[in-house]
This record gives sequence, structure tokens and C-alpha cells, in this order.
Amino acid sequence: MKVPYVNLKEQASLLKKEILAKIEKIFKDGDFILGKEVKSLEENFEKYCGVKYAVGVNSGTDALFLALKSLNIGQGDEVITVPNSFLATATSIIASGSKPVFVDVKEDMNIDPNRVESKITKKTKAIMPVHLTGKPADMFPLQQIAKKYKLHIIEDAAQSIGTEYHGKKTGSFGIVNCFSLHPLKTLNAFGDGGMMTTNDRSIYETLIQFRNIGLKNRSESDLWGYNSRLDTLQAAIVNVKFKHLNDWIKKRRENASYYQQHLSEVVQCPKEGEKEVCSYHLFVIQTEERNALQNYLEQNGIETKIHYPIPIHLQKCAKELGYKKGDFPNVEKQSETILSLPIHQNLKKTQLDFIIEKIRKFFKN
Ligand SMILES: Cc1ncc(COP(=O)(O)O)c(C=O)c1O
Repeated sequence: MKVPYVNLKEQASLLKKEILAKIEKIFKDGDFILGKEVKSLEENFEKYCGVKYAVGVNSGTDALFLALKSLNIGQGDEVITVPNSFLATATSIIASGSKPVFVDVKEDMNIDPNRVESKITKKTKAIMPVHLTGKPADMFPLQQIAKKYKLHIIEDAAQSIGTEYHGKKTGSFGIVNCFSLHPLKTLNAFGDGGMMTTNDRSIYETLIQFRNIGLKNRSESDLWGYNSRLDTLQAAIVNVKFKHLNDWIKKRRENASYYQQHLSEVVQCPKEGEKEVCSYHLFVIQTEERNALQNYLEQNGIETKIHYPIPIHLQKCAKELGYKKGDFPNVEKQSETILSLPIHQNLKKTQLDFIIEKIRKFFKN
């Protein structure tokens, strides 16, 4: 049996009819950039996340970058975040002209609020927690710290559509929050896309201008902007998928629970905390035998991934930040023990059973 990590072709073909009908309509309307479908996707996000405003842009990275710009964060400023995220978290901070300041994570792979205060300086302007894997970062202590030091919170919710913390969806805790619609995300486009959410009217208005060259109407601008417009086609595709999102998350959670039930004896499985709903964008196990297990699974036709094998502070591009090996022991240790198993909503029970059987067999030997 072959078990690919994801199966985007299958996912796309299941919704082919609905998506093609939307595309046909867009052809007829000639409505290709921003437009009605983008507005309706923004409304979907507003409703889903329980926020007042959402603004579609052309990637999750741009969403983070524009969030920082909308808060005037740039040259000379510092933003606290984690080094175990996807590179884009730090890239967006660098692109804004500010400096990422890293904090180690807890066992759950999310920012450790107890380590944040010691990193705050006069230059700190924001905390950017990442809800890595679709598990929520511990937002209440972070909000308390942010309040005490007058810092902004920008959630990197790229991996956490549908995740809940104390009854509220991620993407509703920070001043501006950012999602990715990359094809590998749970809610995905057929290309790049991103979304920002906020409850602040004036930030919303700034973001609307930033994404469209700074224009506030057809011909006037009061700020220099960027081109980060979301395509109508991508928005239309995501709108079709939005209707299935809750079912997909439910399925992912069932898959996760099945893994937990059958694998916790042999590997460390992710746990859901009290007052949390994890959306399982990724299902990351941890084991000292990671490399051998990954090879064994590959030989048996099971594709797995590592998110991420090289922490950001150890990337060559991060050299100028002055970090070294040993600075973030939990992140570094996890980068050697983590393994992402297939978790997507279209996995079949036979595939799940096959993965479980092979992992158990590996540890028996
Ligand atoms: C945690 C995290 N932040 C940011 C991004 C950037 O999103 P995008 O690829 O849409 O630019 C991603 C995903 O790619 C991500 O996983």
C-alpha cells in the first residue's frame, strides 16, 4: 500500500464540479482581481473567526508583513516570536525592517510565555505567537504580558484555521492576525493566498489600502502601499472549500484521536489541552528514533515530513541575528525528534491502520 503525505489531486477532484462552475462564472463576469468572491471570502472569515474585519491578500507571508506595516513596526524595532516555525514567520519580520527575537517553546511546540518577559527590551513592539500544527499558543498569559508592556499581538495563524482556545477561534486574539491559503494548508487555494483579521476599523482601512498600492479609491492615496491583491479565482475556490471546512477539521480530529489511541504507547503523540480545540493541520509525533522510523516508513510506502528540520535561528540567512546552536534547547531537540504523519481528511481507515501497524512493528523490532 502507498500512503502519500497529502493527496492534492484527489482533494481537488472531489470538488471539481463546484469549482469549475465558479470558474466559468468568473470567465463570464470578467471579474479577476479582488471583486465579489474576495469580499465574500472575507465575510466568511469574519463570521468563522468571530471578528469584525478580514482582508484578503496574496499570501500568508504578505499577511504577516502587512500586519507589521499597519502597526508601524519597522527599522529599529523588535518582534518576539519562535524559531521552530516555517521560515516565513521570521521572513515577514525581516521584510518589515524589524528584528525577530526568538523565544524557546514548550513541549507542545508553541511559544513558552514564561520565557517572553526576559526578551522584552525598549525596542520590542510586538509578540508574534505561532499556533504551530493547529494547536493554540497559550494566549491568556501572552495577552497579559502584552498589556503590561504595551505590546501588540500578531497571531501567526497560518496553520490554525478552525483552532479554538477557551471557546474562541484563533485569529481573534491579536490586534491583527494572519492566515495562509497555501495549497498545503487545511483551507487552501489552487495557488497562493492569505487573509488578515482584525477588530480595529482604522487598521482595517490601512490594510485595505496597503494591499492595493495604497489606493483608497480609484485615484487617491495617502500612504505608499504594496501589490498584495488576492485573485478572484483563488478566493472563489476557497469559498467552495469553506463549506466543507468544519467537516474536514472533524475528520482530521478523528484521525488524530485514532492515532493517539493506537500510538501513544510507542511514541509521544500531541495532546489536546483543556479548553483547546486543535485543528490538526499537522499531526507531529516525537521519538528519539525519528530518522530510522522515517526511513522504515518510507520503505513501506508511507510518506512523512519534518516540520521543520532546521530551526530558523540555525539557518544561514539568520546568521546576522547572532544566534548559535544551544540557544533554544527545546526547539533544537524537537527538530531531531519530530515527525509529521499523514493526517488529512481524505485518509482512509485502511491507510491509517497500515501506518499504525507499521509504526508499532518498527518499535517491536
Ligand atoms: C506558520 C506559518 N507562517 C507563515 C506561513 C506563510 O504562508 P504562505 O506560504 O501563504 O506565505 C506559513 C505557511 O506557508 C506557515 O506555516
